[in-house]
Amino acid sequence: MKHIYIALFLSFFFVSNKAISGDPEAGKARYAQNCGNCHGPGGMGLASYPRISGKEVPYLTERLKTYRAGTKVGPNSDLMIMMAKPLTDLEIENLAAYLASDPAGKK
Ligand code: HEC
Repeated sequence: MKHIYIALFLSFFFVSNKAISGDPEAGKARYAQNCGNCHGPGGMGLASYPRISGKEVPYLTERLKTYRAGTKVGPNSDLMIMMAKPLTDLEIENLAAYLASDPAGKK
């Protein structure tokens, strides 16, 4: 009986853990579809396109949701609003998890 409780506790832990943190592998795949065209390999930043690699999950999530809502935060937000519109909550979580792992490496 004790084992059932432990198993329940563990599965709850994993399920709830999954809900708050995205899947970096899925984020990497989504990033590869088009984000890199502007932000460069691993989000390293290219010319006037900002570096997004290594930023924190709450920051990235908030930014992407703000753009998705159509709100401007900078001079070139229109470009990013267009890109963020089709993103689902799950895609945003996954992208944030991937980018926060600093795929472009330290500056
Ligand atoms: C057409 C070029 C383009 C593409 C494609 C693009 N972005 Fe952007 N992104 C921008 C620009 C330009 C900005 C700065 C916008 C501003 O001035 O507010 C930006 C800003 C951001 C920011 C906020 C950076 C910061 O520090 O404020 C994040 C996060 C981001 N992009 C993520 C993504 C993700 C994830 C994708 C793929 C779904 C993506 N971008 C695709 C051009 C692009």
